[in-house]
Amino acid sequence: MKDKVIPYGRQQITDEDIQAVIETLQSDYLTQGPKIGEFEAAFAQYTRSRYAVAVANGTAALHLSVMALGLKAGDQVITTPITFAASANCVRYCGGEVVFADIDPETFLLDVHAVRKLLAAAPKGRYKGIIPVDFGGRAVDLEAFRQLADEYGLWILEDACHAPGGYFTDQQKEQHYCGSGTFADLAIFSFHPVKHIACGEGGMVTTNDEKLYQQLLGLRTHGITKTEAEYSNTIAFAGGTDHYPGWYMEMQTLGYNYRLTDFQAALGLSQLKRADEGIARRREIAAVYEQAFAGKTYVKRQAGVVDGHAYHLYVLEVEDRLGLYNHLRSQQIFAQIHYIPCHLMPYYRQLGWKEGDMPQAESYYRNCISLPMYPSLTAEEQAFVIDEINRYYHA
Ligand SMILES: Cc1ncc(COP(=O)(O)O)c(C=O)c1O
Repeated sequence: MKDKVIPYGRQQITDEDIQAVIETLQSDYLTQGPKIGEFEAAFAQYTRSRYAVAVANGTAALHLSVMALGLKAGDQVITTPITFAASANCVRYCGGEVVFADIDPETFLLDVHAVRKLLAAAPKGRYKGIIPVDFGGRAVDLEAFRQLADEYGLWILEDACHAPGGYFTDQQKEQHYCGSGTFADLAIFSFHPVKHIACGEGGMVTTNDEKLYQQLLGLRTHGITKTEAEYSNTIAFAGGTDHYPGWYMEMQTLGYNYRLTDFQAALGLSQLKRADEGIARRREIAAVYEQAFAGKTYVKRQAGVVDGHAYHLYVLEVEDRLGLYNHLRSQQIFAQIHYIPCHLMPYYRQLGWKEGDMPQAESYYRNCISLPMYPSLTAEEQAFVIDEINRYYHA
């Protein structure tokens, strides 16, 4: 076992996936073609949302989302420090100001009470939006955030990169899937290889708002439209007589090239077919970890078995985290740390954030470790991981 590296996450590529990519490579389309629309439709259905827009990666999805939501220089947006930096950085791309609020130590997610405190302490209108993150695959209670957002007139952008297929249960016992758009204005996903669905690079935005959907379609392709009804230049200017000539198009807003390729979409579509199977396996792995670590004195807190959790990660908070991390590495078990608090990255320190600002997030960071979690992790490999952890603590 020791000769084989066990990473914290890994993709699974089947022969069917490879065949799907080959077929697309042999077709007429390399960049946006028919697979994009198919992937978008299937993904919208999977997340129970009305619209989906495929983009180049999760970061592009975030960038386009805050643009579509109208973020402007100086606007303030609230997010969690326990996330990948991209969740916050998108605000900076538009010249906005990131305001971190602390996490709930029980769930590791953005604390709705901390956000309420921030909002209550500021004049109405200071904050424009909230970016909650379904960190590790645990779905944020967006019903609670929606109430708050409505009170203060804010938009919600759900960063669901870790949680396609995850859900939370509302007060009426109804399940809401991550990215369903029931409570958030927009949600974004990443198809980076360690995520549930791998495209190499890839991302998606989901929404139920047709206007935002139309904006996103334009923004991902340079703000160009080929819809005649939207043209503002005259037919004569375009070079036509009684209608716009075939070549004509207009760039109406400043957009980007954030397109996904058709062969990546083919891979995503093929992977999506196994998404439920993958989550079911992740939940089995989580249940085994939960039982193995229950009551262990070296464990301060564990992700545990949580309804609707999509288990991108399985996080433990432990004593002597560095020692455990090094021991696991010596056994070729590559656990990982998610995340170094974003507000303490040098870039955000330069903007004024400092140690002590987010006590819960900082305490979490001192103890957290993400254990191997991916559908192809075998029972034998998982037993080896658990045994090595117990061996380290002589438990
Ligand atoms: C929570 C979160 N948000 C955003 C991103 C950015 O996604 P991508 O790497 O596809 O740009 C990631 C990916 O690492 C992520 O984990």
